[in-house]
Amino acid sequence: MRLPWLSKSPYLTNKYMQSSIFDKSEQFDIYRNVLLEQGKIIQLSTELDKPSPFYFGYNIQDKLLSKLEEYNFDKIFFFTEPHLFELYGKELYEQITKKNSCTLEFLPCGEKCKSFSILEEVCENLIAKEVSKKSILLAFGGGTVGNIVGLVAGMIYRGIRFIEVPTTMTGQTDSTLSNKQAINSKTGKNHFGIYHAPIFIWADTQYLKTEPDFSKRSGIIEGIKNGFISDAKFLNYLEEIINPDVKFTEEELYQLSFKIIISKLEIIKQDPSEKFYGIILEYGHTFGHGIEWLAKGKVSHGEAVSFGMKIAAELGKELGLISQEDVKRHYHLIENKLGFNNPFPTGITTEKLMDAMIADNKKTGRELRFVLLDKVGQCYNPEGDFLVTVDQELVKKVVESFISKS
Ligand SMILES: NC(=O)c1ccc[n+]([C@@H]2O[C@H](COP(=O)([O-])OP(=O)(O)OC[C@H]3O[C@@H](n4cnc5c(N)ncnc54)[C@H](O)[C@@H]3O)[C@@H](O)[C@H]2O)c1
Ligand SMILES: [Zn+2]
Repeated sequence: MRLPWLSKSPYLTNKYMQSSIFDKSEQFDIYRNVLLEQGKIIQLSTELDKPSPFYFGYNIQDKLLSKLEEYNFDKIFFFTEPHLFELYGKELYEQITKKNSCTLEFLPCGEKCKSFSILEEVCENLIAKEVSKKSILLAFGGGTVGNIVGLVAGMIYRGIRFIEVPTTMTGQTDSTLSNKQAINSKTGKNHFGIYHAPIFIWADTQYLKTEPDFSKRSGIIEGIKNGFISDAKFLNYLEEIINPDVKFTEEELYQLSFKIIISKLEIIKQDPSEKFYGIILEYGHTFGHGIEWLAKGKVSHGEAVSFGMKIAAELGKELGLISQEDVKRHYHLIENKLGFNNPFPTGITTEKLMDAMIADNKKTGRELRFVLLDKVGQCYNPEGDFLVTVDQELVKKVVESFISKS
């Protein structure tokens, strides 16, 4: 039973057409089962207001330099983490330095690089090394490397060019498909940032084979989210392919990365601003951001979102929008299939999570608003708005019950 004040969602307006990426495979080559072919490059577009070419493939690193040389530049600044340099970056760096001026810049690993102090250090260092408007920054690493380098590139001389070479599932399927570049504040994630588009993205799935499991899960959870919010058939595919040990063949990693990319592109091409229809990508994120912040680095973004999606499902059921079966599907996919089955972080109480969500929402006003499902594969949009305000007492009740049984 739906609560009386929740009217039945008007079916998605014509403005936003939802269809499965699997149905489209009958019409368009790009959606067909793309098979791994060493060295083959597939060109996509980020579909944003300022779209960037997105090059996708397996073992395509040796072709990057010739793409790079299509652009005029005086210097390349090659940003990466030390272990990624040893694993993959060195070869590319040496290839670039043979004919071009290129300096190597190491960043601290992971989220640590997304701070004001690192931002300042990197910017001042680049000025000292005579970065110019003709220079290009290259971000070789996960979403964190992409974010800090993108922000630096956007700020130096009010914007210079940069390239992203994402080495994680999240980097390839999520963070490079938006032009959002940000660092964290003392009180929250991604509080300081800008929109700045890379000149191109070079996604090579060969890197994914060494990605840590927690990080791989973080990327795949956003794919599961894309299935729940927009494509039930895609969710069925994920249910078949994923496994709790996140062990995949190179072919599977290639397929998985490609399909998650397409599932996100399908959404943003209809709303590049991500403010209207595209806001559905925030499913599970209102709770997730609060959890991620309160866990202070102990819970990754993806794991926090996985808790957030389970709570959002419970909230949806409480509001009479989705069934107990749909809620169970969340738990099954997240815990049994993806292996995100850690207990809820101790120390995060209902009160703390409610306060964190309200504080985080300073950006949009004090009301708590959520993306909720109407059914598996479709979001609820009363009066065309995909962000639904929910009574705080009800949210509190759902959170309390979730924490007590986790
Ligand atoms: N702009 C956006 O819209 C957007 C979207 C999603 C995520 N993000 C941001 O991205 C960040 C998360 O990105 P991430 O998940 O890639 O994390 P990350 O960059 O921290 O990488 C995860 C870990 O994997 C290691 N690593 C990276 N590539 C590897 C490889 N190929 N082999 C072995 N180890 C490897 C890194 O050293 C790190 O320890 C967050 O800061 C998040 O805010 C931004
Ligand atoms: Zn996310």
